[in-house]
Amino acid sequence: MHQRSNINAEPVLHIKGLDLSYATAHGRAAALTNISLSLAPGESLGLVGESGCGKSTLLKAIMGVMPSNAAIEGGQVIFKGADLVAGSKEAWRKARWAGISMIAQSALNALNPVRRISAQIAEAILTHKSMPKSELRARICHLFEIVGVDPERIDDYPHQFSGGMRQRVLIAMALALEPSVVLADEPTTALDVIVQDQIFNRLRALRDELDFAILLVTHDLAVVIENCDRIVVMYGGMIVETGPTREVVRAPSHPYTLGLRNALPRLGVDYEPIAIPGRPPDLVDPAPGCRFAARCPFALPVCRVVTPDLLPSTPDRAARCHRAGEMETLASLAGKVETWNRVGDLANAP
Ligand SMILES: Nc1ncnc2c1ncn2[C@@H]1O[C@H](COP(=O)(O)OP(=O)(O)OP(=O)(O)O)[C@@H](O)[C@H]1O
Ligand code: SF4
Ligand SMILES: [Mg+2]
Repeated sequence: MHQRSNINAEPVLHIKGLDLSYATAHGRAAALTNISLSLAPGESLGLVGESGCGKSTLLKAIMGVMPSNAAIEGGQVIFKGADLVAGSKEAWRKARWAGISMIAQSALNALNPVRRISAQIAEAILTHKSMPKSELRARICHLFEIVGVDPERIDDYPHQFSGGMRQRVLIAMALALEPSVVLADEPTTALDVIVQDQIFNRLRALRDELDFAILLVTHDLAVVIENCDRIVVMYGGMIVETGPTREVVRAPSHPYTLGLRNALPRLGVDYEPIAIPGRPPDLVDPAPGCRFAARCPFALPVCRVVTPDLLPSTPDRAARCHRAGEMETLASLAGKVETWNRVGDLANAP
């Protein structure tokens, strides 16, 4: 998606200091800690991080559709100037789909298998505005056209579509009420690479035409590079780095981002992707200090005691690392598999 000129405009969506926890059998799990981010009108922001880091939780929190064991413990979700967390349930319901919509991770879970697609899209539209039946059908046909599905098929059932087409139908549903923000949760995970490309191309074209802002969740850095102006990197429920995508990928300011970058294919270079060893942190009883410390090859003793703040390095970049200022040196080490094999051996930290 091309760079937008209105990045400095008043944000359409602004998350401030959001904390969310889940009640679990072992205690409350801090799934989101102090999340702040903003989305300018028409902007595309990529949210990356490994499984369990809190990406879907954040999107559900923005939509106001958390499961019953989730609690927002603090912070704000400001949409067009109004805080949805502090406001009424009705205000949040009104913003949902009409203002902020979501393309879910799995079309099979998001669509009702025993109802025709046309009925499901009609229902989404009619909960927000009344419309004569003929206009409604014309609208649904138009939505099918813009996402590239034959409008003759609006009365089909979900199982009659291929995986790629079902995902397009979800995009059609998300755009049905012309929202200004679209949240996309791994919209192409289950699809092959060619279909993935087609869907992202379509999504980019639609964003350029309809001018919605998009928050795109993925665990694939390459998808963000291809599609997003800015990037947010999450680890263990926290934002660890943010900035313009190209700059962050070219010169990360956080060891976790360096680790993610190791999974990217390098053109013309014979390389083996290096995985980040270890497991995600315990969110019920997190260890003190940096949440990445147990897996970070560059951890110092201070990292296991003091939680680093998310500090800006330039007006549009920030990172949460005690060693952010040394990243050029650390980056050269992070490209070597030996560096990651040594994780946990504090005595060897450079
Ligand atoms: N309903 C729930 N109850 C308790 N814990 C939950 C619930 N949903 C998610 N979690 C936990 O919250 C954390 C964040 O989960 P989330 O689904 O947001 O991760 P994600 O980044 O979307 O992962 P993935 O890439 O696998 O989709 C995980 O530790 C997960 O186990
Ligand atoms: S704060 Fe320390 S442990 Fe955390 S990412 Fe930075 S160097 Fe690694
Ligand atoms: Mg998820």
